[in-house]
Amino acid sequence: MNKSEAKNRIEKLIKVINYHRYLYHVQDRQEISDAALDSLKKELFDLEQQYPDLVASDSPTQRVGGEPLKDFKKVRHAKRMLSLNDVFSKEDFYRWHERISKLLTEQERSQLDFYCELKIDGLAIELEYNNSMLVQGSTRGDGSIGEDITQNLKTVESIPLKFEIRNYKFEIPRTLVVRGEVFISKKGFEEINKIQIKKGLPPYANPRNIAAGSVRQLDPKITASRHLDSFAYDIVTDMGIKTHQQAHTMLKELGFKTNEKNQYCKSIEEVFHFYEQVGKIREKLNYEIDGIVVIINNNTIYEKLGVVGKAPRGAVAFKFAQSQATTKIVDIKVQIGRTGALTPVAVLQPVQVSGITISRATLHNEDEIKRLGLKIGDTVIVGRAGDVIPNVVKVLPELRNGEEKEFVMPKICPSCNTKLEKSDTEALWRCSNKNCFARKRRAFYHFVSRAAFNIEGLGPKIIDRLLDEGLVQDPSDLFELKEGDMVQLERFAEKSAGNLVQSIAQKREILLPRFIYALGIRNVGAETAVDLANHFGSIEKLQRAAREDFQHISNIGPIVANSIHEWFGDKHSVKFLEKLKKHVIIKNPERKTTSKLSGKIFVLTGGLESMERELAKERIRALGGEISESVSKTTDFVVAGKEAGSKLDKAKKLGVRVIGEEEFLKLIA
Ligand code: IVH
Repeated sequence: MNKSEAKNRIEKLIKVINYHRYLYHVQDRQEISDAALDSLKKELFDLEQQYPDLVASDSPTQRVGGEPLKDFKKVRHAKRMLSLNDVFSKEDFYRWHERISKLLTEQERSQLDFYCELKIDGLAIELEYNNSMLVQGSTRGDGSIGEDITQNLKTVESIPLKFEIRNYKFEIPRTLVVRGEVFISKKGFEEINKIQIKKGLPPYANPRNIAAGSVRQLDPKITASRHLDSFAYDIVTDMGIKTHQQAHTMLKELGFKTNEKNQYCKSIEEVFHFYEQVGKIREKLNYEIDGIVVIINNNTIYEKLGVVGKAPRGAVAFKFAQSQATTKIVDIKVQIGRTGALTPVAVLQPVQVSGITISRATLHNEDEIKRLGLKIGDTVIVGRAGDVIPNVVKVLPELRNGEEKEFVMPKICPSCNTKLEKSDTEALWRCSNKNCFARKRRAFYHFVSRAAFNIEGLGPKIIDRLLDEGLVQDPSDLFELKEGDMVQLERFAEKSAGNLVQSIAQKREILLPRFIYALGIRNVGAETAVDLANHFGSIEKLQRAAREDFQHISNIGPIVANSIHEWFGDKHSVKFLEKLKKHVIIKNPERKTTSKLSGKIFVLTGGLESMERELAKERIRALGGEISESVSKTTDFVVAGKEAGSKLDKAKKLGVRVIGEEEFLKLIA
């Protein structure tokens, strides 16, 4: 995105985010999920990082949300109550770490350690103590001015009304300001929502909403009935405490409730480990958390890093995977199912949803696109239906820039050009050509087969499902698949999705003969592919070859030459090849002409125990040997593996030298 595009996008994002923030914080209403709003804020934040001079003063990143309600006394915070910037992945986290590292000296960098806390889904509060007595409790409000909710906070049992001085290491100042979080337990959340529903009232969307609603009651008795809880996480008053960890110890000693699960981490690896461990116990906790807070432990360094906008540089919220995110629709493709039905599929800018990256989402049918009001280029909220299948939840038309394109369902089949038909009873368009999709499928099977790309774990069954769901249109799409795209396939566990993505990635590098063979050109088998690779040396040269150029290659007659030439002249093939070349690295091994196997012709029969047949062939070729499929007098060696068949008999008859696996291995060693 160039600067003027970024400026445009930033302006639009600010408008949309501010609208939803107002709904949420002032009107207590929600039109889009927290996760979707977070996702938009993250995009804005990233753009502002990229173009710092485009940070507008009304940007949501520059202020803390929540205007004080009219009904409570206003309280000015001695020190601004800040918020935190979010990171959603290890990459984001590294970026934050890099950013702050640049602002530190070598020595400071070397002693950088962290204190990690559970990020409670509640409401930030400030507590002021005078002579160890609680004198004031307040909400964050807009960060500078909050609401006085002292009477309500006094009903929260875990907040000390008077703290005990048991620690003599520090002198406790007369006025002590402590910050923390009030929250409601998962059980409390459920119970209150049950009551809401019984009363015919809308249920609260999340525990934070209830906590917020409960402490802002004008009648403290209502607050008391909600059984709120609290954790303290910071001492604002300067009393010479050196580290954030010490502040927590101090809070605990003073009688505040601190979170026992919080942990000191001395390296990024330990932070990641803690994040993962917390993710695992998250379900078992009796309160909601939405991530961890990572704070630079050394207070001097933390203070030195200062504040940018609404957040300190020295801390981040490392959030858990969100179940919704916003992204862009790059394209809408149409896929033809095995029954001929056409399904539109959205190609997305890859995005993480529930911890997994997705790049495709089914749109079901034409009517669904109309219902969503979706255009190509739109920013959308995507989710995973039933936590599995990626789907487009909502379009955000406010973010359009005029370049979006209307999607038009094709009138003829994009695969075989047959005129499409729409039945009266369904919302589906169909291609009636029985051969259409079957052909495509076969090309796919061939592409991943052993002698071609040899992609492990990708058999016909999975290919069928990938095609049926519209996740892939041609074999080059395989390399774009993300884990989350595949998990949607029924009975496809996340683990196997991950494995498959990995085994596809492993095959990005391919030898030229295999690559040529994989293209599925008519009359070009594995041997012809080897001849072509040897002769031309690169796919580009082969692509440019004229019909006459094939005449000089032994083993290639006019029919084969014709079909090769035709294939490379077809515009669909050219497009496919160009796409494919973006994803793969094609290598052409030098032929070793001086090798001991040069000029020797091998025939393989039966199974080898120590290696796959294709690998054996590759080794022979790499050493200058040739492979033949049938035994003749010119054959030099017949390699006989287990259960060798008629080729072995023929070799014996012709007096061709037969070697076993052991001898073969020595030969190619
Ligand atoms: S430390 C500079 N620790 O998350 C703010 N915050 O977006 C330092 N929160 O407003 C806050 N649990 O209300 C901290 N263990 C924790 C927290 C926590 C929840 C909230 C807090 C803050 C928001 C940051």
